Amino acid sequence: MSNSGQESTKQHGCRSDVAHDRNLPDVDLLSPLQVRGVQLRNRIVVSPMCQYSSREGFADDWHLVHLGSRAVGGAGLVFTEAAAVSPEGRITPADLGIWSDAHIEQLARIAHFIDRMGSVAGIQLAHAGRKAGCAPPWTGGARLPESGGGWQTVAPSALPFNGEDPPPRVLDADGIENVINQFRDAAKRAITAGFRIIELHSAHGYLLHEFLSPLSNQRTDEYGGSLENRTRIVLRTVRALREVMPADMPLFVRISATDWVDKGWDIDQSVELSKELKACGVDLIDCSSGALVPHAVIPVGKNFQVPFAARIKEDADILTGAVGLITEADQANEIITSGSADLAFLAREMLREPYWALKAEQILGQEPHWQTPYGYAVRRRR
Ligand SMILES: Cc1cc2nc3c(=O)[nH]c(=O)nc-3n(C[C@H](O)[C@H](O)[C@H](O)COP(=O)(O)O)c2cc1C
Repeated sequence: MSNSGQESTKQHGCRSDVAHDRNLPDVDLLSPLQVRGVQLRNRIVVSPMCQYSSREGFADDWHLVHLGSRAVGGAGLVFTEAAAVSPEGRITPADLGIWSDAHIEQLARIAHFIDRMGSVAGIQLAHAGRKAGCAPPWTGGARLPESGGGWQTVAPSALPFNGEDPPPRVLDADGIENVINQFRDAAKRAITAGFRIIELHSAHGYLLHEFLSPLSNQRTDEYGGSLENRTRIVLRTVRALREVMPADMPLFVRISATDWVDKGWDIDQSVELSKELKACGVDLIDCSSGALVPHAVIPVGKNFQVPFAARIKEDADILTGAVGLITEADQANEIITSGSADLAFLAREMLREPYWALKAEQILGQEPHWQTPYGYAVRRRR
């Protein structure tokens, strides 16, 4: 069992000549991808998914089994859910956290297991900003009063996500420095824990996205107003992460490519941001959308966010990930073979089917790369 991960990497026939292989005809969903010093065995990614199952930010056996089984299931890259860089940066009191050295041990256990299964362990670092301090979604997701376990939220401007919620506290210059340092410290802990890829969460209406969008950022200082000013905190955070990350470790950034609201953040600004992110050492833009404001009208449907990944890949000349309602192997394969994106991120379908990647191999005509203790048995007829 102990070497099954290594074996499975070998079985995937990882080739060394496929680094940044944009639009080559022989690249498909099952092709490996080299990003800096890390090779993914295929282009299938378990998208970050909050479990709201932590106490004081600690991962436990739930996270090990949840993430570990998707590594057993053949995904090339398995991301943890959003890990909060500070207690006040949690969406709910039960979020995963990485604000203390004490969190490292349990996270290391998970990263090590994913690695052993031949997958790559990634961690998403996050701060929820004005959307923090809520109840878990299965109890309605409402803002918790401070008397009921909630806390004072922070944001670029004193504008609540929902009109009736108490306003967030505006981050001053020291507060912004503090947040950047929290991201940097969290990255150091993630590296110590053994994660091999970091993704910075700058999407879905959380703190960094709140700075990007003119709808939530009405500051008049150097962090508000012009595009250059609104993107400043994200770029400073990326530089802070790069300072502590080894040169061979990939850095991804998840963005909401559009707010889906007039005069909000949009795809043109996303392209400009992506060019700057690339110049600061970001390797891949994970292209999601929306969730900054509750009233956005979003045309949700199959592949609805794929054009954002394609546009950013083309115009900013950077690797991209596509996400959103990707459920079928042929669909995911087409996203890669058409050159629209370099990775396919799957969320809910991975909850329904943790062995999705193994099934995709079968559907796309490859022998599934079962882990060794399963492989011989599932092939035996009697
Ligand atoms: C249960 C659940 C939790 C999620 N948590 C996160 C998260 O922690 N970070 C994040 O960037 N996106 C999160 N998302 C969004 C997913 O990563 C993904 O972008 C979205 O669900 C669309 O993909 P899908 O159609 O494959 O589910 C979450 C989605 C679900 C269903």
